[in-house]
Amino acid sequence: MQIEDAVPRVGALVTGVDVRSLTENDWKQLYQTWLDRHVLIVRGQKLTKPEFLEYSARFGRLKPHRVKKTHDPEHPEITLMGVTSGNSGSDKLVLDRGQGWHTDSPWDVEICKATQLYGLEIPSYGGDTLFASMHAAYDALSEQLKTKIATLKVAFGYGGRARTGIERLDPEDQKMPPAIHDMVRVHPETGRKSLYVNPTHVLSIVGMPEEEGDRLLAELYWYMLQPNAEYRHKWQAGDIVIWDNRCTVHSAAGGQPADQRRVHWRTTIMQ
Ligand SMILES: [Fe+2]
Repeated sequence: MQIEDAVPRVGALVTGVDVRSLTENDWKQLYQTWLDRHVLIVRGQKLTKPEFLEYSARFGRLKPHRVKKTHDPEHPEITLMGVTSGNSGSDKLVLDRGQGWHTDSPWDVEICKATQLYGLEIPSYGGDTLFASMHAAYDALSEQLKTKIATLKVAFGYGGRARTGIERLDPEDQKMPPAIHDMVRVHPETGRKSLYVNPTHVLSIVGMPEEEGDRLLAELYWYMLQPNAEYRHKWQAGDIVIWDNRCTVHSAAGGQPADQRRVHWRTTIMQ
C-alpha cells in the first residue's frame, strides 16, 4: 500500500490496496491517514454495492440521505448520483452538481461524520470535486475573530435561505426545522478546531441581527480557502473518496461535457 499527500495540508492518495481485503494494520493506517488528511482517495477499486456498503460502514453508521428519490431501490443507504432510471426503462441524467462550497448534511441535527463516493463513470474532462480544510480556515483567523466567534451558534437548513433544491425532498421533509450547530467545532477524534460555516446551507447566526450576521459570515467566507489547503480531485473510474464533513468543505466543479455520464455511488456516514 502506497500513500502520498495530495497537497500539503489536505488529502491523501492511496494505491496498491484492495479495500475488500485489508489487513488490520492497513485499515488502521488508512483510518489514521483519513483523520490526519481529512480526504482519503483510494484508487483502482472494483466493488459491488454490498462491498461498497461494507467498506463505508467501517467508518461509521450509515444513514440514508434525506433526498429519498435518489436512493438505490435495494440499498437505501446508497444514493445514486448522476443517473436515475426513467419510466421508459432508459437511464436519464439528473443534476448532481452540488455547486457552492458546503459541508454535507449540516441541516441534520446529528452531525454528519463523512461522505464517501465511489466513481463508476467519469467524463472525459471536467466533473472534478474540490475540497478545502476548515482547520486551515480556522487557523488563519485573527485572535480577535476567534474570540468573537468562539461561542456562536449557526442555524442550517437544506439549501440555505434560498432553499435551493428543496424540491428534491419529499413534502414532509421540506418542513424539517433548522439544525443548530456550533460555529467552531472541536473535532471529536483529533481535538483540532475548525470553522463550521458554509455559504450553501447557513440560514443565520443564532441571536444575531440578520445584517450583522451576514456581514460576519461574509468576512468568515474569505478565510475558507487557504494556500496549500485546497485540493482538486480529478476522478478516475474506480476511485473511492471519503471526506470528513466535520472539518472540510467541498464543491463540485462542473464543466463536464453535456453528453457524457458522470456516475457515482454515495454513502452518508454518521459518528
Ligand atoms: Fe456535497
